[in-house]
Amino acid sequence: MQQSEVKSRLAPPGLPTEKLIAKRVASVLNTLRMSLVTTSQDEFKLAWLDLLWIVFLGALAVLPPFYEPHKELALLGIGTFQIFERRLLRSIPPRRAGAYSVLIKILLATVLVGHTGEVPINSSYYLIYYLPVVSAAMTFGPWGTLLWTALASLAYCSYLIDALENYELTASGAAELAIRNLFFFLAALVVNRVVTEHRRQVSRYQSLAETLAETNRRLEQAQAEARRSERLAALGQLSAGLAHEIRNPLGVIKGSAEMLVKKLKADDPLVSELTGYISSEVTRLNTLVSRFLNFARPLQLQPRPQDIRPILDQALKAAHDRWPDVQVEVQKEYATNLPKAVVDEELCEQVFINLVLNAYEAMPEGGKLRVIASAANSNGRKGIEVQIQDSGPGVPSELREQIFNPFFTTKKDGVGLGLSLVSKIVDDHQGWLRVEDGVDGGACFTTFLPAED
Ligand SMILES: Nc1ncnc2c1ncn2[C@@H]1O[C@H](COP(=O)(O)OP(=O)(O)O)[C@@H](O)[C@H]1O
Ligand SMILES: [Mg+2]
Repeated sequence: MQQSEVKSRLAPPGLPTEKLIAKRVASVLNTLRMSLVTTSQDEFKLAWLDLLWIVFLGALAVLPPFYEPHKELALLGIGTFQIFERRLLRSIPPRRAGAYSVLIKILLATVLVGHTGEVPINSSYYLIYYLPVVSAAMTFGPWGTLLWTALASLAYCSYLIDALENYELTASGAAELAIRNLFFFLAALVVNRVVTEHRRQVSRYQSLAETLAETNRRLEQAQAEARRSERLAALGQLSAGLAHEIRNPLGVIKGSAEMLVKKLKADDPLVSELTGYISSEVTRLNTLVSRFLNFARPLQLQPRPQDIRPILDQALKAAHDRWPDVQVEVQKEYATNLPKAVVDEELCEQVFINLVLNAYEAMPEGGKLRVIASAANSNGRKGIEVQIQDSGPGVPSELREQIFNPFFTTKKDGVGLGLSLVSKIVDDHQGWLRVEDGVDGGACFTTFLPAED
């Protein structure tokens, strides 16, 4: 009666105690199985190594002294710890886990040596100390390895105190002990050297892989820029031809409209209103075509070494004069070691005026504008990098190529020729232009222009 009360208290409602225990045992077994049989390839290899561990330690267990439970327990402890070490120390920071692991292995080795052989210091199992020694050599640097090896060596030599109570240390015995200990250190140093070299190689390959990835990224960027230049050139050529052809009929339309006014009754309000429309619209179209032809015309570059800073200041002033009421906090960061840029001053100013105007237009309510100029190197060419970053809405990633196309604009009164002109000028200077996210959440236009050698 009493027992069933205890049972019912232990078991959750509806689940008998036997079932609960069976469930617990199954879950423990499952955890052990999961620890041994793992899915990832790396850990699968480890599971094989674990099996080998069990085989070798099992072989040691059946070797004399066979009827020594402490020895068997120590071997079991070593095997279990070796297999579950990673999982046991998973939650501890790596360096501390390494120290714990070596310490536990030294303790287990000391227990094993202590229970094998009549005089522990003479035990053939002293070789088990290679386990913590090699572990330390694989985990720590040279000094850490030496320190842990010294500790393992001390742990082994501690059996000397016991032995000296009953025996005398002969010269050959002392030499043997010294040899054994010195081999601990030799093994530790060899393993440490190999592991350090391996780590160095790995980090070299890692940095090589990173450099390759970075080079690849730059190459892709350069390819995208080259495609943009080609596209703009083709588009420019095509539309320049078209614009040119539009101009002639426009002239004829305008002339005809003027003739109409003269020939028809000039005082007819409808006639003068309609011909007025024709004339003003033709003028508007003509301006647009002229502007575009101006854009498409090949640039006459006159590059000369120029200090880029006054050009940037000029662009900032032009934008401020254009939008005097917009509260923009301008932050200039010009490097002191700026080389002279080899640019056409007037065209270069156009580049920055367009970029700064766009930045102002992106922040109609005001904001922050950073202008950063620094010396740079692009594909082995010396140059100057100018970043213009605003705190506006930024450029959505899907528009980052389109914004450089002629006539692409998202503004009500925009023409969409600014960035294509900037791109063209920068291309003609053998530079490059990129748009990215700025640190203040807006757009960041980076321009590279060549500098004097
Ligand atoms: N600083 C900027 N922030 C956000 N969008 C920008 C910025 N600069 C340019 N853009 C986008 O690129 C488009 C094209 O710019 P642009 O060629 O100068 O022509 P426009 O200024 O006449 O629109 C703009 O309409 C705008 O959508
Ligand atoms: Mg613009």
